[in-house]
This record gives sequence, structure tokens and C-alpha cells, in this order.
Amino acid sequence: MFKRVPGTRDILPEEASSWQHIEAIARKIFSTYNYQEIRPPILEKANLFTRSLGTSTEIVQKQMFLTSTTAQQDKENADLYALRPEATASVVRAYLENNLDKTAGFSKFYYLGAMFRAERPQKGRLRQFHHVGAEAIGSWDYRLDAEMISLLDNLLKAFAIKDYKIKLNSLGCPKDKNTLSDSLRRQLKGKDAQLCPDCQRKLTTNVMRILDCKKEACGKLTRQLELGQQHLCSDCLGHFSKLQEDLTSLGINFVVEPFLVRGLDYYTRTVFEVSHAELGAQDALGAGGRYDNLVSDLGGPKLGAIGFALGIERLLLATGPAGKSEAKEKLVYIISLGEKAQKEALKLLQNLRKAGICADTDYENKSLKGAMRRASDLGATHVIIIGDNELEKNVVTIKDMSSGEQKELKIGTAPTFLQGSAT
Ligand code: HAM
Repeated sequence: MFKRVPGTRDILPEEASSWQHIEAIARKIFSTYNYQEIRPPILEKANLFTRSLGTSTEIVQKQMFLTSTTAQQDKENADLYALRPEATASVVRAYLENNLDKTAGFSKFYYLGAMFRAERPQKGRLRQFHHVGAEAIGSWDYRLDAEMISLLDNLLKAFAIKDYKIKLNSLGCPKDKNTLSDSLRRQLKGKDAQLCPDCQRKLTTNVMRILDCKKEACGKLTRQLELGQQHLCSDCLGHFSKLQEDLTSLGINFVVEPFLVRGLDYYTRTVFEVSHAELGAQDALGAGGRYDNLVSDLGGPKLGAIGFALGIERLLLATGPAGKSEAKEKLVYIISLGEKAQKEALKLLQNLRKAGICADTDYENKSLKGAMRRASDLGATHVIIIGDNELEKNVVTIKDMSSGEQKELKIGTAPTFLQGSAT
């Protein structure tokens, strides 16, 4: 028997209702902030991510699912494709490729969808996982950062997630990031031997990534480093202070965390992460930040931008029962006894569905008792029985499954009656 690929999951119908619940809440909240849905493809050219996320990042170095096609045309173009590991780069590509910088200007997008990273699977860490994310492109204004974090906070509240922590930092502009990197290199000088081989390499390639290392020895060393806001120029410091003022005035709880540098190279200025203690080792529910150079790095004009993404699987691990889907809607189950009754049932099923009522029937030729049990297992709110007796009188028997009450109705009036009845 075939098995699914490790690190992927089958979301079966019972669980899918929780996903629909999360997605419906997300769409509602996004629309109140006037964000519009964008659906870029899952397959992109691999170098879009190499260029956007940075060659020395974990994702680009180790985690991309790369595919080369056997199609001759693609081979000739030497295109290597990747299953998207994240969607920010795709959204920016789509924004530019579709000339939205020229036609729409400042734009606010949201997306829901699968992302792929070749990681070692564990609780909360999958190879195919799902993002609910937002990106706003075309503004440098700190008020947009505040809107983005307020949107994130409102989503988490609407998902009924408790005890989350919003960590905030500013990396500053590219010049400030260099100052920060220089300071880190200075402080780590002569301590190379205490770092893991990966981090020793990062000392020259991308020193900020050392702060993300999960290895005990590296963590011990980096925790002693002096990090603050000294690397920020006056403009970036102003942006960061005003953002904090706005968040405070909106009543959003956050903590400034100087060690938060994020694992992707495109970030500048504001970065943030949401953690949840109950998630264990993979405690990040979501994260985001500004990427003020990405639009121009991908060939577009100089435009400020910011976004975030939440991992749906981790949201579901963190939500209590309140976050799960609501009670079932009305479901009418038709039991027909005999071939003639089945023909009536077919028409009635159609009429109920046309009237917008969820209706189903038995396709396994169960006995009356078996079909009643099935209706109850499905959570049917009403059962309609059509047998010889009913056919003779041109009626159906309707049973209300919660009260147990039973009555006969003219067959044609059943949809109207059920539309009016409570579940
Ligand atoms: P990220 O931090 O790489 O950011 O991913 C965001 C969230 O996706 C994480 O906090 C986590 O909840 C979830 N996640 C990441 N990897 C996995 C995994 N292997 N298994 C399960 N969940 C995972 C980004 O992707 C950025 N594009 C966010 C962003 C948008 N920044 C600006 N705009």
C-alpha cells in the first residue's frame, strides 16, 4: 500500500472543518482591513527564492524542493523550478510581472496556501505546511507596520488563541544591518572555536544567521552578545519608536527582542515573530517584517513593503476547542424503501438541494434500521422516510432527530417546511 511522503498530512473531512473555520475567519478579518486575495502559483523558478531569501539562508541551502522538468523546452532554458518555500517572493514577483506597480500602486494582499520545505519532520514542522499571510506593497510608513501587526493580533484573537507573545525588533536599513553584522563579528572575534562548523562558516557569509542557530553551544555564546538598538540610524530609530507608540496606543502587547533577526535575508527595519509556549521546540506561530529592498531587488521600483505569515498547522495545535468548527448545519437524510420510493427520493433530494438544504441519502441499500443508524452517525437533523405507505398517500414521513417528533407531509411541501424549521 502506498504511504504519504514523510512530513505531509492527509487532512480528513473531520479535521477539514477546522481548516475551513480558520480560513473563513481569516478571510473575514482580511476583508475588514481591506486586503484582497492573491493566488500565485505553487511552482516558481528556483532563482526567485535564491535571489529573494538569500543564498546563505537555511531554506535556500538545504530546504528547497527543486524540480527540473524533462520537457525539452524547459531544459533548453535551463530553468530549475521550486515548490515555493514561502509566498512573499511570489507575491512581489506577481505584483511586478502584472504591472501592478504601475496600475494599482499601493496594494494590500492576502493568501492562503501550501508551502514546501525539505525539513526533518517533527511536531509542528512539516514538509508541506500552510500559510495564511498578508503583504502590503508600496509604503514606507510606520503606520502600515502598526496596521500589519494589529491585523496579526486580531487574527490570533479571532482564532481564539491565548497566551501568545509578539516579539518585535528593528534590523534597520541595509547600512544599519551592516553595522549590526560588523558589531557581531567584532564581538565573536577569537571565539570561532566555540561555534558549530555551520556557524563558523556564517561568520564570513552571513553573521546574523548565527543568532538563529538552535545548537546549545552557539546559543550559549550568542546570549552573551550585546545587542540593542545602537546599530540603528536616526531615521530607522524614529520609525521603530513611532511604531512602538502606535502599538501601545492600540493596546497591542509586544516585547522588544534584540535577538530577533529572522531567517530570511530580505528583511529590513521592522521584524516580528509570534511565539506560543505550548508548541514546544517549534514555537513560532507566525512571523513577518518589512522588506523595503525586495521589490527593487526583483527588478521593480524602490517601494517599501511589509507582511507576515502564520502557519495554519501550528495555529490548529494552539487553538483550544473554541477555535474549532461550529456545530453542524441542518442535514436531511432521506431513507427510501423500494425502487419506486427511490425514484421519489431522487427528485426530493434534488428539490431540497435546490432550496439550499444540505441533503443526503443511503446508497448502500441498508435496512430501515441500518439507514436510521447511519443518519444518526452523520448527525442528521431530520430524516425523511418514503415507503409504500407514504407513496400511496403521496406523503413523506419527517422525523425531527432532536425531539423525536414525527409527522406526515405532502411530498411537494417538504422543502418549504424544512427551510422554515429550526435545526
Ligand atoms: P517564516 O518564519 O519562514 O516566514 O514562516 C512563517 C510561519 O510558517 C512560521 O512562523 C511557522 O508558523 C510556519 N512554518 C514555517 N516552516 C514550517 C514548517 N516546516 N512546518 C510547519 N510550519 C512552518 C515566512 O515564510 C515569510 N514569508 C513571512 C513573511 C511574509 N514575511 C513577510 N511577509
